[in-house]
Amino acid sequence: MFFPTVAIASLLLGAAVSQFVSPPTNLTTATGCAGFQVRYKQVPPGICELRADLKSYAINGGPGSSSMIGLFQEQGPCRVNSTGNVVNNPYAWTEASNMIFIDQPAQVGFSYSIPVPGYISEDGSVVVLPNGTCPNDNITQGTCGTYSNPNVTDTPTTTSAAAPALWATLQGFMGAFPQYSRETFHFSTESYGGHYGPVFNEYIESQNAKAIPGAHNISLETVLIGNGWYNPLIQVYPGNTYDYFPYNDTIAAEVYNNLYGPGNCVDQLNDCAATGSNVTCSAADNYCADYVESIYDEVLNRDEYDFRELEPDPASFLTFLNNEAPDAVLNSFPPEFYVAYLNTQIVQSAIGAFQNYTEYSAAVGDAFNTTGDDGREDGTVADMLELLEQGITVMMYTGDADYNCIAHCPPDCNWLGGEVVSNEVGQPGFTYSGYTNISTSDGIVHGQVKQSGAFSFVRIYESGHEVPFYQPVIALAIFGRAIAGLDIATGSINVTSGYRTSGPPTSDYREGNATVQFEVVGTNSTYNTTTNEPNPPSKKGRFAKRQGEQLRYGKPFRPVKLSYE
Ligand SMILES: *[C@@H]1O[C@H](CO)[C@@H](O)[C@H](O)[C@H]1NC(C)=O
Ligand SMILES: *[C@@H]1O[C@H](CO)[C@@H](O)[C@H](O)[C@H]1NC(C)=O
Ligand SMILES: *[C@@H]1O[C@H](CO)[C@@H](O)[C@H](O)[C@H]1NC(C)=O
Ligand SMILES: *[C@@H]1O[C@H](CO)[C@@H](O)[C@H](O)[C@H]1NC(C)=O
Ligand SMILES: *[C@@H]1O[C@H](CO)[C@@H](O)[C@H](O)[C@H]1NC(C)=O
Ligand SMILES: *[C@@H]1O[C@H](CO)[C@@H](O)[C@H](O)[C@H]1NC(C)=O
Ligand SMILES: *[C@@H]1O[C@H](CO)[C@@H](O)[C@H](O)[C@H]1NC(C)=O
Ligand SMILES: *[C@@H]1O[C@H](CO)[C@@H](O)[C@H](O)[C@H]1NC(C)=O
Ligand SMILES: *[C@@H]1O[C@H](CO)[C@@H](O)[C@H](O)[C@H]1NC(C)=O
Ligand SMILES: *[C@@H]1O[C@H](CO)[C@@H](O)[C@H](O)[C@H]1NC(C)=O
Ligand SMILES: *[C@@H]1O[C@H](CO)[C@@H](O)[C@H](O)[C@H]1NC(C)=O
Ligand SMILES: *[C@@H]1O[C@H](CO)[C@@H](O)[C@H](O)[C@H]1NC(C)=O
Repeated sequence: MFFPTVAIASLLLGAAVSQFVSPPTNLTTATGCAGFQVRYKQVPPGICELRADLKSYAINGGPGSSSMIGLFQEQGPCRVNSTGNVVNNPYAWTEASNMIFIDQPAQVGFSYSIPVPGYISEDGSVVVLPNGTCPNDNITQGTCGTYSNPNVTDTPTTTSAAAPALWATLQGFMGAFPQYSRETFHFSTESYGGHYGPVFNEYIESQNAKAIPGAHNISLETVLIGNGWYNPLIQVYPGNTYDYFPYNDTIAAEVYNNLYGPGNCVDQLNDCAATGSNVTCSAADNYCADYVESIYDEVLNRDEYDFRELEPDPASFLTFLNNEAPDAVLNSFPPEFYVAYLNTQIVQSAIGAFQNYTEYSAAVGDAFNTTGDDGREDGTVADMLELLEQGITVMMYTGDADYNCIAHCPPDCNWLGGEVVSNEVGQPGFTYSGYTNISTSDGIVHGQVKQSGAFSFVRIYESGHEVPFYQPVIALAIFGRAIAGLDIATGSINVTSGYRTSGPPTSDYREGNATVQFEVVGTNSTYNTTTNEPNPPSKKGRFAKRQGEQLRYGKPFRPVKLSYE
């Protein structure tokens, strides 16, 4: 596996102090396409694995979230278990394609700007230390390391502005590794990838059309988007299929008013769409987060990414950092063990890391917050149609328990909102297509698809936000079918423009609340992909309690804006 170095090179700390990252050695340099310089390191066996077939590439959510989430919690060849060991993932997407996972924009994950000694403050942001000595106090304890100087000027502030660096990264990679650029290219993304996927790929197509001398023509065939955040206005959509309605009338009315009341969330999002003003869009996005989305956290104490689980699931940022509540880490779905693994000296020197790993970059979140990019549609829906018109396959897929709110619902990546978006794309024939069951090798129906030509919308049952973690069998199946140009329902038909699924116009299956948890998941539970519940099941008497700061932070290293993931 190759971990490309994507951002600018820079200085490094002199003395190697144990908390800090020693500068990588033995990097290979190469000139990629269009003149972009590349440095890389071939990772020795044992860190993860690589198979050679096609090629593919993954970007997780954000803005600010790392693609290592996808590699180590979802579709990568390995997972990290509670004892810090790498274990094989039999449903890795590397079974169907080569994969490259890119941390972007600069400062996210292993992607760096200017590495400096620092620590992570309570609000998740990097604080720069004056020198390479870690103070022995409770504030920096456990978080001293090497991080990108958290300067918002060193990262883009919008999805569109992030596209050129992503294109440049691909040019560099494809030039340095021509063996991986001969064939077609598939782009897979999730969450904020509802923004990244359409916009980045339209940019790739527009760069191809310019026929830039020395640039590689990227032969884009497929764009996949999991639980995407496309358009805040369209995705303001209530409902769920789990027969669970926890808000009482008072709270439901409050959420409804904050959403639809005069001057509130929807009105402000409309103002953002009408004016395009950075200030208006940022204010709108923050209003919706603070007055609509946050009610979910404050009242329900449920995981935003899988509403079937109570918090702590996952662990709080602070307890994780301070090692105060290992239980909270151990019962997190998907588990966070890979973060500690990536912060070991042995892994960092094997991959040539320039900085410590964080799952979320607050600097990038802050940078995007200055323009309110999260609250904008930014051409995402129109770009999907343009990609389809250029002959590219587009698959939207959504786990149907990813739910930011129940009953009267604030904007997020829930599947009903995704379905509304799919109907807005405007793919010919899609309106007349119907939902049909998806068949998989295990004989179990894990979801349904509605497809017209190369465009499909997939609903996955009993799955939170990170579909390949919750439903690995169907995730690998639909990935393989999509990139092979086969029908998503069966994988046995070559899709033509006239292909259409038939069935009911809506996907009416209801799970009921059998897998909804009403107790906190027990320590060291794993997720059982057969029962769709924790294994062992949660025990009585361990009801969720509000735990101080916890509600403000959410996932480790992703503490600031929950709506960004
Ligand atoms: C440096 O990298 C080359 C090429 O990957 C490898 O053959 C060599 O063993 C490495 N040297 C060290 C000291 O790691
Ligand atoms: C983690 O994986 C390693 C390697 O396969 C194994 O030896 C160990 O028992 C596993 N730990 C747990 C808690 O399952
Ligand atoms: C390094 O910075 C710390 C403050 O974090 C300070 O107390 C210490 O004296 C400095 N050490 C050196 C060698 O400058
Ligand atoms: C640091 O944390 C320890 C353990 O939680 C506590 O006993 C101690 O009082 C703290 N020290 C300061 C200066 O806050
Ligand atoms: C942030 O970057 C800008 C532009 O490079 C620079 O002028 C400024 O001093 C930097 N700020 C900090 C706090 O490093
Ligand atoms: C679970 O579903 C059943 C059947 O729809 C319903 O009667 C019950 O109230 C639900 N339980 C909760 C806690 O929502
Ligand atoms: C509604 O729910 C909220 C939050 O759980 C609670 O504070 C409030 O007392 C409830 N109101 C009624 C009328 O039950
Ligand atoms: C919004 O911010 C971006 C990035 O700072 C800037 O390029 C753009 O001009 C701003 N838009 C407006 C309308 O001020
Ligand atoms: C985002 O910007 C708004 C101003 O529009 C500010 O009030 C808010 O605190 C910022 N949020 C984050 C997470 O930085
Ligand atoms: C940063 O990485 C180094 C290894 O390069 C490791 O020793 C240190 O514990 C890491 N810091 C954190 C906060 O993970
Ligand atoms: C799909 O088309 C390809 C190329 O024309 C052909 O080789 C393959 O057998 C077809 N597959 C199916 C399932 O029809
Ligand atoms: C959970 O697993 C960890 C690592 O294997 C172990 O150290 C710990 O004792 C386990 N906790 C319980 C309650 O079983």
